[in-house]
Amino acid sequence: MKDITQFFKAKKNGEKLTLISTYDYWSAKLCEEAGIDAILVGDSLGMVVQGNDSTLPVTLEEMIYHTKAVRKGAPNTFIIVDMPFMTYHTTVEEAVKNAGRVIKETGANAVKIEGASEIVLETTRRLTSIGVPVMGHLGLTPQFINIFGGYKVQGKTEESQQKIIQQAKELETVGAFSVVLEAVPSDLAKTITTNLKIPTIGIGAGKETDGQILVFHDLIGIFEKTPKFVKRYLEGGKLIKQSLEKFKEEVKNGQFPTEEHSY
Ligand code: KIV
Repeated sequence: MKDITQFFKAKKNGEKLTLISTYDYWSAKLCEEAGIDAILVGDSLGMVVQGNDSTLPVTLEEMIYHTKAVRKGAPNTFIIVDMPFMTYHTTVEEAVKNAGRVIKETGANAVKIEGASEIVLETTRRLTSIGVPVMGHLGLTPQFINIFGGYKVQGKTEESQQKIIQQAKELETVGAFSVVLEAVPSDLAKTITTNLKIPTIGIGAGKETDGQILVFHDLIGIFEKTPKFVKRYLEGGKLIKQSLEKFKEEVKNGQFPTEEHSY
């Protein structure tokens, strides 16, 4: 079983961590078989699986449902779960109760929460103190989309860089075990990575972070368009479409099924 200590060992030894954001049994199984270090059940499922234009509509029940499937596919992998919008924003008590449900009902190992507001810092402190590891998330935090006015690179001005550096330090101080840095300039990610004892995990944050995370569906090229920071390791969408077209053609012209696929 891969556990939280791999994060600290990797940072100490300068080894890069690999994380994948995914949401179901079969993809989690492939991640585990490929030796991916940890899986995030990201609230990006709101866009990737549900077809919404943001992560905001995702519910706690949906995160629990998907994480149960991921745990079955990856029984030996460290699993982190995104706490969805409005499940950790009203009171620390409610945040702790909701995160507790995720851990109890899914078998996940940790939760991730966005930003570094007062309530996030206090929630991180409380959760860590009761045995729930917390991953932070800074930079382009998708739950703040209405504040940012779109999916825009963060940390471009000196002022916002200083703010993100400060937030990262605060998250480390209250006990976060790792921080995701999303869509920030590489130099800023490098500065944060050098200044923290906990590992940074980058997505669109250059190569100097302690690890990298990509969304499974982006990596395998399911969608026609992907953001600049994604490397498509497979043209999965095209290949799947071709298979579907072939199936259709073979059924229509009587080539499938043959004796081989019949009882
Ligand atoms: O929701 C998600 O998948 C994420 C990662 C992209 C970091 O937050």
